[in-house]
Amino acid sequence: MHRSQDTSRTGSTTKRNQRRALSGILSQGMGLLIYAALVGCFLASASAQEKLAATPPMGWNSWNHFAERIDDKMVRETADALVSTGLKDAGYIYLNIDDTWEGDRDANGVIHPNAKFPDMKALADYVHSKALKLGIYSSPGPKTCAGFEGSLGHEEHDAQTYAQWGIDYLKYDWCQQPPSNVEEMKNAYTKMHEALKKTGRPIVLSLCQYGWNRVWKWGPAVGGNLWRTTGDISDRYSVMAEIGFNQNGLEKFAGPGHWNDPDMLEVGNGGMNEDEFLAAPLIAGNDLTKMTPYAVEILTNRDVIAVDQDPAGKQGFRIAQEGPFEVWLKPMADGGKVVGLFNRQRTVEQMTVNFSQIGIPGEASIRDLWLKKDLGTFKEKYSAYVPAHGVVLIRIKSK
Ligand code: GLA
Repeated sequence: MHRSQDTSRTGSTTKRNQRRALSGILSQGMGLLIYAALVGCFLASASAQEKLAATPPMGWNSWNHFAERIDDKMVRETADALVSTGLKDAGYIYLNIDDTWEGDRDANGVIHPNAKFPDMKALADYVHSKALKLGIYSSPGPKTCAGFEGSLGHEEHDAQTYAQWGIDYLKYDWCQQPPSNVEEMKNAYTKMHEALKKTGRPIVLSLCQYGWNRVWKWGPAVGGNLWRTTGDISDRYSVMAEIGFNQNGLEKFAGPGHWNDPDMLEVGNGGMNEDEFLAAPLIAGNDLTKMTPYAVEILTNRDVIAVDQDPAGKQGFRIAQEGPFEVWLKPMADGGKVVGLFNRQRTVEQMTVNFSQIGIPGEASIRDLWLKKDLGTFKEKYSAYVPAHGVVLIRIKSK
């Protein structure tokens, strides 16, 4: 991108240490103005919805690392690890069991967990005793994606069962062909939303249908607190980058209570090097009982989490692109700006943000969020070396 000053930090440690996530930048939000315009469409459910997920949900999900191996013991160990690693204190409170917990339905239509989960209520009690919340998974179809019992025709039964167990979050995964008529999909999600509401227990509803039919336009109206915007993530830079950078343009659909979900994190799963992370709704997907100190450091970076969880809930967006170099901006509630300098190239490159690009006249103070370091006052622009496939994340305050 542009060449300029501050070329001081070229050492390899600094480069490695510098940048990992887009986390906060993508952190789900939307322009207040557009929010005000949209809110009229779903005013009826807006306030309950907003309370449930006022900022993007943070937690852990079993699928990316454990898939069908998840069981009661691993959930308990993960609950313990959320506490002992400090992730809980950093805000990761949802512990979400994904697919493969389901057993049979009895003659009354009530679903029971399979042998891996002998007592779901006792498990929820254990999770709650750690001041965490428990999430579960189902499908609006007859079968889940892994071929287990879905909720079709049993929405009320299942919602009641979840509430009795003490479930706090439901990922509701389509798992069927896209319907020819989008109304069919909307109805299926609305049905579960209504059933959950009827239980009286606040349960976050996470829509998972891979971004079909521009779900961000109707997700809030069918009761979704978040919705996947893409297909499944995998632990590779190419997939993560495609998903992350494709979020641009969706910022106007996110805000308190209703968020874009570009899928779970792959931090700590081993496939990407330390500069290749792009975080977003902050649902970790690694084995929390075997984390490197480095993975803990990334996941618990308070500066970055504060960007993601900013109460204004404005999602970041791209303000400039030149080939593989992208500059993203997230406006913060305190009037500050967070800027991500993304280098999608395979070589270290210098990048610059000009303050005029982000509406800051003259001087500004800058903090590097991955280095957790105040860098001082800069005039008109800021430049830094960005590692290959890396990001420099800075918080900027006008002087
Ligand atoms: C789909 C979802 C995944 C996971 C699996 C479970 O692929 O996108 O996140 O829930 O189903 O079968």
